[in-house]
Amino acid sequence: MNRMNFANILFEKKNSIAYVTVNRPDKLNALNMATMEELRRAFTDIKNDAAVRVAILTGAGEKAFIAGADIGELSQNEGVMAKEYAQRGQSVLNLIENLVGKPVIACINGFALGGGCEVAMACTFRLASETAKLGQPEVKLGIIAGYGGTQRLPRLVGKGTAMQLLLTGEMISAQEACRIGLVNEVTAPSDLIARAEAIAQKIIANGPLAIQYTMEAVNKGMETTLAEGLNIEAVLFGRASTTEDKKEGTAAFLEKRAAQFKGR
Ligand code: COA
Repeated sequence: MNRMNFANILFEKKNSIAYVTVNRPDKLNALNMATMEELRRAFTDIKNDAAVRVAILTGAGEKAFIAGADIGELSQNEGVMAKEYAQRGQSVLNLIENLVGKPVIACINGFALGGGCEVAMACTFRLASETAKLGQPEVKLGIIAGYGGTQRLPRLVGKGTAMQLLLTGEMISAQEACRIGLVNEVTAPSDLIARAEAIAQKIIANGPLAIQYTMEAVNKGMETTLAEGLNIEAVLFGRASTTEDKKEGTAAFLEKRAAQFKGR
């Protein structure tokens, strides 16, 4: 693959993990449109690269994961332009959320505000350092969340808690975010990436198609009725049961050895 050039993000791959780091620390990694397009390119590359099994998304520097959409750019957007701006951003977050078979772990190393909290919510799950602060402060700017915050936050933490966060615009600590289920775990800042890597390696050891079908069942099931979700699960269970990986996984258990999955 040709090396990709980015001005606003860092992108590297190691041991089946892709590392994407938003890299505008002097602007607390605020998301301007150029950064969003670079995220789109990086995650499209990850989607198409069979060697990548998990992605880790974080922010450069010690202060911020992503402190929101770039307020300088936001101030210029009105009406139809602003609607298109939201939709273009939403399509990047949809790409992250639906990266077939490749979980994206958000490592929230500082402020995750507005668009930053929304990007984290589009990730498969979230870890936070003790120093992280999360919130949806858009109402303080006279606007509303536009990268899925009004939709993903209530799905993650429940309607009442989401309403409180979205309507007050207040920031919460990493510990509080963990209590309400917005992040899964809180670590010391220096342990954040290592913890994500340890979780990633556990995922990578499992059957790639099993990971893919599980993500598909959860993502599709969250958007439909229980009955339809159970049908989606049964169909994918059937598909998983016809794979070489299923033969290998069950045989390895019975032979008391580690499975060697091939993603077939
Ligand atoms: N868009 C553009 N620039 C941003 C930004 C954003 N969302 N968030 C921070 N920055 C910039 C600041 O303007 C400042 O730039 P400057 O040095 O050129 O003046 C730099 O990042 C550092 O931020 P600063 O405000 O000085 O840091 P702080 O520690 O005092 O405060 C925050 C940190 C996160 C509380 C504060 O930056 C903030 O409230 N940011 C906006 C958050 C927000 O509303 N996001 C949602 C947007 S929809």
